[in-house]
Amino acid sequence: MGDRLCEQVAIVTGASRGIGRAIACALAGEHASVVLVGRDVAALGQCGDEVAAAGGTAVVAPADMADEASLCEMVQSVAERFGRIDILINNAGITHSARLQETRTEDWDRCMAVNARGPFILCRQVLPILKRASRGRIINIASVVGVKGYALQSAYTASKHALRGMSIALAEELRGSSVRVHVICPGGVDTDMVGRVRPDISKDELINPLEIAEMVVYLVTHEGNAVVDELHVRRATAAPWFCG
Ligand SMILES: NC(=O)c1ccc[n+]([C@@H]2O[C@H](COP(=O)([O-])OP(=O)(O)OC[C@H]3O[C@@H](n4cnc5c(N)ncnc54)[C@H](OP(=O)(O)O)[C@@H]3O)[C@@H](O)[C@H]2O)c1
Repeated sequence: MGDRLCEQVAIVTGASRGIGRAIACALAGEHASVVLVGRDVAALGQCGDEVAAAGGTAVVAPADMADEASLCEMVQSVAERFGRIDILINNAGITHSARLQETRTEDWDRCMAVNARGPFILCRQVLPILKRASRGRIINIASVVGVKGYALQSAYTASKHALRGMSIALAEELRGSSVRVHVICPGGVDTDMVGRVRPDISKDELINPLEIAEMVVYLVTHEGNAVVDELHVRRATAAPWFCG
């Protein structure tokens, strides 16, 4: 905890619960102004209270990742209010569990819209503002399924591969500039999402959302020439290097 992000403005999507909420509070611990994006306004408000208690300034900014207009309006209002954006955390995400044969086209489209298209729109809208900052940071939260494929998760897997692919291309476009793009690929994290998708994993074995949040703080505060492009984060009991 310190003030390394004092005066910086961070947008965190999916801040109403889970990993996003932990990230928002961790950035607040470094005194950032944190824009909390999601659809559940009451839950975003609760996160806002936690952000304030942690030492940050919270702005509740309801927006739907599947709705381009609401994302563009949100970015514009943040830019108008603060005159700057330093950090974008694309964390919001949804899963869909079904055999490919039983996956409806609308399930596929929804995963792609929330997990890949929304982050693309946000990157595009935020980049001109981010480039004006002395150090701009984009962190996209993908998943172990963005690296390998999981049965019964074809739509989710495809959307996370798309998110990683976009991130790699964007990092190349921005190579050597003041804006860096990072990807975090977690395995099972103790949130509502994993409770729904992998109820078979014991809660004791899951990664704490705070652990992912600590990695985000490292990535957005690290200054030097060394760049960590991507973090693969597995449960201690899961196979190393996402093998197996
Ligand atoms: N938990 C894991 O084991 C795990 C592992 C690897 C990767 N991940 C990734 O980590 C990220 C966070 O997951 P989590 O476990 O924290 O999930 P979670 O507890 O289900 O939270 C998901 C967040 O995304 C937001 N969201 C969902 N649809 C949205 C939409 N259409 N528009 C705006 N916000 C939306 C939700 O907010 P509202 O409901 O308020 O809209 C919520 O804040 C996701 O991208 C997920 O794929 C999770």
